[in-house]
Amino acid sequence: KTNERESMYVVSEFAQEYFQDNLKNSELGKAIGGSYFKERGFTEKTIETFKLGYSLDQWDAFTRAAMLKGYKLEFLEKTGLTIVKDEQSYDKKRMYDRFKGRVMFPIHSLSGRVLGFGGRILTSDKKAAKYLNSPESDIYHKSKVLYGIFQAKQSIAKEDNCYLVEGYTDVIQFHQNGVENVVSSSGTALTSEQIRLIRRLTKNITVLFDGDQAGIRASIRGIDLILEQGMNVKICTFPEGEDPDSFAKSHSEEELKQFLEENATDFIQFKASLLAKESQNDPIQKAETIRDIINSIFKIPDRIQQEVYIQECARIMDISEEVLYSTLAQMGRKEI
Ligand code: CTP
Ligand code: MN
Ligand code: MN
Ligand code: MN
Ligand code: MN
Repeated sequence: KTNERESMYVVSEFAQEYFQDNLKNSELGKAIGGSYFKERGFTEKTIETFKLGYSLDQWDAFTRAAMLKGYKLEFLEKTGLTIVKDEQSYDKKRMYDRFKGRVMFPIHSLSGRVLGFGGRILTSDKKAAKYLNSPESDIYHKSKVLYGIFQAKQSIAKEDNCYLVEGYTDVIQFHQNGVENVVSSSGTALTSEQIRLIRRLTKNITVLFDGDQAGIRASIRGIDLILEQGMNVKICTFPEGEDPDSFAKSHSEEELKQFLEENATDFIQFKASLLAKESQNDPIQKAETIRDIINSIFKIPDRIQQEVYIQECARIMDISEEVLYSTLAQMGRKEI
């Protein structure tokens, strides 16, 4: 099993180099992939830092190149780089490249090994997925990796803070604009394993939301997981219609850093204000809100920190501390 995993790492490394080579040296790669990244404002240095590439728009260009180099179909299939379709009989197998015609974002481990890929489509074909990702495999566990962690780890430790964003390009654009302590859970809800990975480097996380209100309510749920691990969480939302990528692209490094500093709000305060606003004139809603916020505070392992938050929430939501404490105590009893 260890040998199999090793073979999967090796073929993934080859794929990364192959896609990079396509982007840099092939006519089609330069014309199509290169101009795409240029349009997004990515510099050559950035492309090198994140090992970005291009997968030719041909059925099996990558698979053939890999097999010619002696890589076994078994591992091409196990990493998901090649899709093998059995057509009726065994000798009529068809193979094709999963990522054909996409720009490639390799996903690295903390130590820089290639675990998998995200591939973005270039056309605006509404039927095809915008991003395709490697399937779960013995080396790629979506719930355990964070995009950008390899490129971010030193900066996270140095700044003693980690920015968490939604997507690949948010990470890249931040990094290029001087904010290197940034990772992404790649569009899925944050998991405890991912949080533990960050926790090895810092106890402070700042979660950055795209500027569309829809996602915020849903994402807020997942944040209790971060509190549970005793980490400090701040929230920062972007202006309507912006995401971290577009904001970073249209602002200078100084403006970006200033924006982050001025708009990062402590999570409990953020949640209390948001909920307080929503439930202003509705007593039933307000009771629900109190339970919701106390539920978050309940997750915080540190007693003193809990007390500080209770005091703040009492103020923000205009309610007595006693009520909040007794709600907290009720939750404690329910746990037993
Ligand atoms: N995602 C995905 N599959 C999709 C759409 C999104 O895996 N079909 C993941 C990607 O990791 C993506 C992240 O969710 O980066 C955030 O999605 P979204 O905000 O829609 O994409 P952006 O990162 O903003 O992508 P772009 O700027 O390239 O449009
Ligand atoms: Mn590793
Ligand atoms: Mn989004
Ligand atoms: Mn986005
Ligand atoms: Mn975007």
